[in-house]
Amino acid sequence: MMIKVITYGTFDLFHQGHYRLLQRAKALGDYLIVGVTTEAYDKTRGKLNVIDSLVTRIENVKRTGFADEIIIEETEGQKFNDIRRLGIDIFTVGSDWTGCFDYLKDYCKVVYLERTKNISSTMLREQNSHIQRVGIIGTGRIAGRFVQEAKLVSGISAQGVYNPHRESAVRFADRWEIDAYGDIDEFFKAVDVVYIASPHETHYGYIKTALEHGKHVLCEKPMVLERAQAEELFGNAKERGLILFEGIKTAYCPGFQKLLGIACSGSIGSIRNVEACFTKLEDADSRELTDREYGGSFTELGSYCMLPILKLFGKEFQEIRFDSLNGANGLDLFTRISLKYPNGIATATCGLGVKSDGRLLIGGTKGYIVAEAPWWKTAYFEVHHENPEDVQKYSEIFLGDGLRYEISDFLSMVNGTEKDSFKLTRGESVTLAELMEGFLRQAGR
Ligand code: CTP
Repeated sequence: MMIKVITYGTFDLFHQGHYRLLQRAKALGDYLIVGVTTEAYDKTRGKLNVIDSLVTRIENVKRTGFADEIIIEETEGQKFNDIRRLGIDIFTVGSDWTGCFDYLKDYCKVVYLERTKNISSTMLREQNSHIQRVGIIGTGRIAGRFVQEAKLVSGISAQGVYNPHRESAVRFADRWEIDAYGDIDEFFKAVDVVYIASPHETHYGYIKTALEHGKHVLCEKPMVLERAQAEELFGNAKERGLILFEGIKTAYCPGFQKLLGIACSGSIGSIRNVEACFTKLEDADSRELTDREYGGSFTELGSYCMLPILKLFGKEFQEIRFDSLNGANGLDLFTRISLKYPNGIATATCGLGVKSDGRLLIGGTKGYIVAEAPWWKTAYFEVHHENPEDVQKYSEIFLGDGLRYEISDFLSMVNGTEKDSFKLTRGESVTLAELMEGFLRQAGR
């Protein structure tokens, strides 16, 4: 009787440990099946910095000559099904997993092979790319979340924080166990890349100086508030071979990518209507509702709501109209932007003082997609059709605050493994800046 063995792994930056594992796995039986993980599956299990593509990783496994068959591993729970489907006798993995797969013992023999010492993909990844020390400008809530999320992405580590008010920097630095800087030149000397989470209107100046100091920049949305500023800064970055990256976390999360893919697949026909709404009630004395120049609902939330519209309809709208309800200090508590495109219409609705449903709706000629709040942390959406029973449901992982996805993409660009981000292009960031500018102008600010 032929003994069938199966093993699974990512096999990134193929190394001696992988080779020896496969060699011994093959020797356990007559026929070896190797499951190689997909990028998407690795993302869901928190492996965000795999370097080799799936094709390369499969090629490398194939080249050893030990695998009789290669399959891909794309979901959690797949091992259990593969073992029964493929009639497996022995399941094996390295000893770093000892105990983790004992639940498979009811279906086949489980063998943990001694792991090869002093080698791992993680080690190679860290040797290959030096760890990027990130410096944070700004000490607000989002900056704290960034530190937590950055810990989960390999290849980056929070080094220090800058705030012109040194006491705020010290308080933040103590809380997160990083260094505090009140002097910007010292700060730039100590870091490789910069994350900007200061008040909106300060982004332009900070990005400009960071680029002058040769630093790659990840900047919170809205990156800047004028089209010309965005164009100038992207130009500066390009000239210096630096990355300038706008952090709208939704753009980079796997669920939103899936939603766009399905929306554009024809499953709801041609897209004719996009309605995106995000409301978040804030205290009247919050920064968002008291900063008379740059506060209000559109500057705060407009980037999120405009994102699906720009992704699905593009940048070439024919008409745009802003309607706002303002509070006593003149700041918008609630703003609706209506856009007209050659083949569609869109609305983006933002509220800080008025609550609404907060959903994303994409209407097409054959059906519609709906993602309820918080769709900006896309984890679930449905596709509906004329027949109310014809509904497809999709879910996708969204871990923590979701900043880890944008940090990981930013890092790939900094390390040169990806050149440009199709998830949020420079052109889209420029249009977002133009919309901010248009809104502030018509609001008389
Ligand atoms: N493996 C091994 N010896 C090593 C490294 C890995 O025997 N030094 C085994 C693992 O136990 C697993 C298989 O090789 O059975 C594939 O592991 P994978 O996770 O792809 O490799 P790692 O180098 O452990 O990757 P990472 O550092 O990303 O966890």
